[in-house]
Amino acid sequence: MTAFKNFQDIKIQQIEAALAHHLPASHIEPKQLHEAMRYSTLNGGKRIRAMLVYATGYLLELQQPALDSIASSIELIHAYSLIHDDLPSMDDDDLRRGKPSCHKAFDEATAILAGDALLTLAFNVLTKTECTDKQKINCIQLLSQASGSRGMVGGQAIDLANEGKSISIGEIENMHLHKTGALICSCISLVASLRFQTSDSEYRHLKHYAECIGLAFQVQDDILDETSSTAELGKTQGKDKQSEKSTYPSILGLRASRQLTEDLYNDAIMSLSHFGQRADYLRDIAQFTISRGS
Ligand code: IPE
Ligand code: IPE
Ligand code: MG
Ligand code: MG
Ligand code: MG
Repeated sequence: MTAFKNFQDIKIQQIEAALAHHLPASHIEPKQLHEAMRYSTLNGGKRIRAMLVYATGYLLELQQPALDSIASSIELIHAYSLIHDDLPSMDDDDLRRGKPSCHKAFDEATAILAGDALLTLAFNVLTKTECTDKQKINCIQLLSQASGSRGMVGGQAIDLANEGKSISIGEIENMHLHKTGALICSCISLVASLRFQTSDSEYRHLKHYAECIGLAFQVQDDILDETSSTAELGKTQGKDKQSEKSTYPSILGLRASRQLTEDLYNDAIMSLSHFGQRADYLRDIAQFTISRGS
């Protein structure tokens, strides 16, 4: 087993345990809401955002409890974003992580509320991070910016507004950087903010790495929507084309999209050149981002 695979296995167990601990038990009222929150959070997922938190924490030699809080809060926001992304009024997707989407397994109102509750729980968890109050406020600011209308939610709005349109590469890059890149970037920036000032060169290099892989992650997601299978993806293949989404493959074609992920990978690796071997897990995550099959 490679060192990265071993790290991934250990960290997946760690984040699953942390999430299970933070989510209200399903026997607590309102039961259906809590069940839906657990259903949509503890249902697999690659946990790449949590991996990024732990890998950055490993590089910067930070304590695990603080990393657990940050990783959990970001995975909670991610889980909420997927529930809402699948709703009939958004991407109208019936399958998520190989199982019925939240609104199919429960009902639409429960799915909306489960998303709302996961988002608010995320910030509650973040307030428990073992760090100074100043660092905590900074983390809350960073995560709220990354997930709100100037970040992920804004990107989702752009995505929906662009359905059926032909847009420029600059516009699609802007959309991807918001809808997916911002939250991925927050995995690194929250952790890095516990060690560095935003003006420090280490912070800027890590942020650049995060921006590159955040964009590469969504380009690969768009490629897989065309090239993979529903069974492998655990979500409906071909949905982007069906909904006339603006994606990199729809504009550039598959070959140029693949080349772009390679270029972004190389750029990400370059920005880690100031760091030694302890950044190897971040390097492995960059490779995983562009070579993953689901
Ligand atoms: C899917 O994210 C949605 C995007 C932002 C592309 P992931 O591919 O990380 O989904 P899970 O968590 O592994 O299911
Ligand atoms: C989702 O993008 C981005 C967020 C959930 C914020 P997609 O709509 O491409 O994600 P999938 O393909 O449904 O997972
Ligand atoms: Mg979408
Ligand atoms: Mg979708
Ligand atoms: Mg997609």
